[in-house]
Amino acid sequence: MRKTLNIGLFGFGCVGFGLYEVLQKTPGLKANIKNICVKNPNKTREIAAENFTFNPDDLLNDPEINVIVELIDDADAAFEITKRALKSGKAVVSANKKMVAEHFEELLQLQRENNVPLLYEAACCASMPIIRNLEEYYDNDLLESIQGIVNGSTNYILTKTSRDKLSYEDALKEAQEKGFAESNPILDTGGFDAKYKLLILLAHSFGHIAKPDDLLNIGIDGLGGLELKYASEKGWKIKLVAQAFKHSDGNVGAFVLPKFVSPEDRLYNVDDVFNGVVTKTSFADEQFFVGRGAGAHPTASAVLSDISALTYDYKYEYKKISRGEEIALAEELDLNVFLRHEKLDAETLKPYFKKVSESYLNGEAGYITGTISFENLKKVQKDETLKKSFVLLDVIR
Ligand SMILES: NC(=O)c1ccc[n+]([C@@H]2O[C@H](COP(=O)([O-])OP(=O)(O)OC[C@H]3O[C@@H](n4cnc5c(N)ncnc54)[C@H](OP(=O)(O)O)[C@@H]3O)[C@@H](O)[C@H]2O)c1
Repeated sequence: MRKTLNIGLFGFGCVGFGLYEVLQKTPGLKANIKNICVKNPNKTREIAAENFTFNPDDLLNDPEINVIVELIDDADAAFEITKRALKSGKAVVSANKKMVAEHFEELLQLQRENNVPLLYEAACCASMPIIRNLEEYYDNDLLESIQGIVNGSTNYILTKTSRDKLSYEDALKEAQEKGFAESNPILDTGGFDAKYKLLILLAHSFGHIAKPDDLLNIGIDGLGGLELKYASEKGWKIKLVAQAFKHSDGNVGAFVLPKFVSPEDRLYNVDDVFNGVVTKTSFADEQFFVGRGAGAHPTASAVLSDISALTYDYKYEYKKISRGEEIALAEELDLNVFLRHEKLDAETLKPYFKKVSESYLNGEAGYITGTISFENLKKVQKDETLKKSFVLLDVIR
């Protein structure tokens, strides 16, 4: 029989209020919000003041509340709330990818020790049901790779630069004005948000738990005119792609990099704030998920789905992790890349390549395309004296 849920809700911002509205329209679900905790006592709210508290204890110590839904924008506070809730036997639903990615191991442990679930479908690609599919559907098939556009703001900026020919600065400004990008956008544009999501995908697809520092993320903030022109001349687009794949050495390659995509690629038409994920399995070949990766109602719909799953006691079994297979991150990789650089650095950079396919110089800048080891790519990327930008052509497997 389905359980009745009494929800203690943390956060009443974009997603929190979105969830409130979505729950009003889903009367069939046996779930009601009992209390809401927010931070700022001086804010005007969309609903009456008596619905709110500013004291987390009012939710966490209430024995009638059996589910905490955590929708706040502070990953450290979110972790404290989640930890306390799980320890007191309350199930938790969260949308916070940074919290889940940074504390994956501890959160797994807390769930096991206290025998209560933590669900976080909304943390990865908002409305797209990717985590539960990886957990359940792809358990029996041989998953080879998962790759996707998992960050809506950067996709919006890239769409504006390629389709509407806006400069990077203007596209970013427009994304900020429309609320798609933060005033300090580096979490998105630097590829960090995409990396947090990739860490979650990596655990649910291949059973590898990594820390944020373990994975390379190159964002779109360093992209320049040469690579955009290169893409446009070939009829391609540049997308920020997070990917994890089985390498021929048995390990798993995983990173976030800007990538050229051709019209044949399923990610080519994933534009604006949409997200898209392509899975490839040994027998089913490719499957493609596309949907809204942000926004109040799309994100709330994934939170709602987790709440609904709790009414029938659903929990992630972390099947791939439980198998205990030793899977390491693949480091011995070769990639075909485009590297844009300053004219003066051309000869310094060529020796990093195993094979140079093309090189070009104009008045002040140039590019090299060719094959580079993952190790050398990371060395060049780390060198802050070099002005450069990498765009992936493909991974050699
Ligand atoms: N927005 C999206 O499209 C989207 C998509 C996917 C995932 N997410 C994730 O969903 C979560 C919420 O995002 P959002 O866009 O809804 O954020 P938001 O609009 O900035 O709202 C944040 C809410 O959290 C509350 N809050 C902050 N610190 C708190 C604390 N210590 N205790 C209690 N309440 C606290 C704020 O309270 P006040 O109202 O008092 O300021 C506010 O109500 C984040 O983890 C985000 O990454 C968002």
